[in-house]
Amino acid sequence: MFKFASLLAFVTLASSVAAQAPIYGQCGGQGWSGATACAAGSVCTYSNDYYSQCLPGAASSTTAPASTVSVPTSTASGTSSAPSSTSTAAAGNPFEGYEIFASPYYAAEVAAAAANITDSTLAGKAASVANIPTFTWFDQVAKVPTLGTYLANATALQTSSGSKQIVPIVVYDLPDRDCAASASNGEFSIADNGEANYKDYIDQLVAQIKQYPDVRVVAVIEPDSLANLVTNLSVEKCANAQTTYLACVNYAIEQLATVNVYMYLDAGHAGWLGWPANLSPAATLFTQVYQNAGSSPFVRGLATNVANYNALVAASPDPITQGNPNYDESLYINALAPVIHSAGFPAQFIVDQGRAGVQNIRAAWGDWCNVKGAGFGTQPTTDTGDSLIDAIVWVKPGGECDGTSNSSSPRYDPHCSLSDATIPAPEAGTWFQTYFETLVSAANPAL
Ligand code: GLC
Repeated sequence: MFKFASLLAFVTLASSVAAQAPIYGQCGGQGWSGATACAAGSVCTYSNDYYSQCLPGAASSTTAPASTVSVPTSTASGTSSAPSSTSTAAAGNPFEGYEIFASPYYAAEVAAAAANITDSTLAGKAASVANIPTFTWFDQVAKVPTLGTYLANATALQTSSGSKQIVPIVVYDLPDRDCAASASNGEFSIADNGEANYKDYIDQLVAQIKQYPDVRVVAVIEPDSLANLVTNLSVEKCANAQTTYLACVNYAIEQLATVNVYMYLDAGHAGWLGWPANLSPAATLFTQVYQNAGSSPFVRGLATNVANYNALVAASPDPITQGNPNYDESLYINALAPVIHSAGFPAQFIVDQGRAGVQNIRAAWGDWCNVKGAGFGTQPTTDTGDSLIDAIVWVKPGGECDGTSNSSSPRYDPHCSLSDATIPAPEAGTWFQTYFETLVSAANPAL
């Protein structure tokens, strides 16, 4: 396994290499045979074993802040300032009365991207995205120490501004991750100690959070995982992962509740679990997961539309939704809520609208990869117009890629080269400048 230092290390490449990759182009990774030198003004930056990317500027403009917090080696002993778990969740909407903390990591990505736009009007709009609070994904265990930095920053901001801070994170590192697709395969495998590795990842998150009891943390738990268990058990990888996913998610929920993290389990979207036949099986599974974790009041409910493109309220049904009466997120939530509530899970909802500004852009509802023409959507707010919905949020960091269009990559998924996908696209999670620029110019409401 690589070390965090190497994850963020900048590689200076020999100037004797003739070909140069463009800014935001690929410059390395397993099986990569193209240019390994970067165009002037950018440096080749390790992203993962499959992908290094030319990112503009110097290290300080594009890297996450280095951790200033040491991780306790034992999660059992805690630190002197760590509270013991109260296991008492505040009643009501956890976002109410809190300002959502804007991630310095995403802000740095956005600042670097804006600096690379020549049109000054567009650049100004692009730069403004850095201030819009967006969830930070912990998609690799090596990133966990940065959570301590963000929590320290949020604590300091809360003290200086007097505004209570809620830090939004995504827990996303299951073994055999993304079992029904290929683009977001993760670092852990069930066959290779995956469950134990995952538990260690959760322990490390808990150890960081425990040190900053003054700020609130909200987490989306494992995008796609439980939804895949509802509809995709015919996929061998999902069937094989079922027991492990359930054990890991249970562990995540129980442990994160001990440090008072407010959680929303990922619940797919209207075009997935929103089909009438899927509502009841979904409600049953989510309720079992909730109850198996002791019906913790910190499990506030479900997150929908994460990294997807559906409107909260569509003006009219997109033709691709044909046949589904639940053709937008509001309809899906209002159809699921009574079923899940009567099953015994009093779930509330949050809805990702980060890339949902433009509708009717997909050839099929199942298309999810870098869909062409998408724009940033409604900005985060607790003013949702629906008592079931705690907040409209931005979960997927707009500009981070959904998956590569390079068919020779080990993480290639054919969805990423469909006619409605933006091509060429880099590896999932890495910066996709062209896509970001479209999101900015097509934003609705406008930036
Ligand atoms: C994708 C990537 C993941 C990234 C996330 C948010 O799921 O696989 O690495 O963190 O998107 O951009």
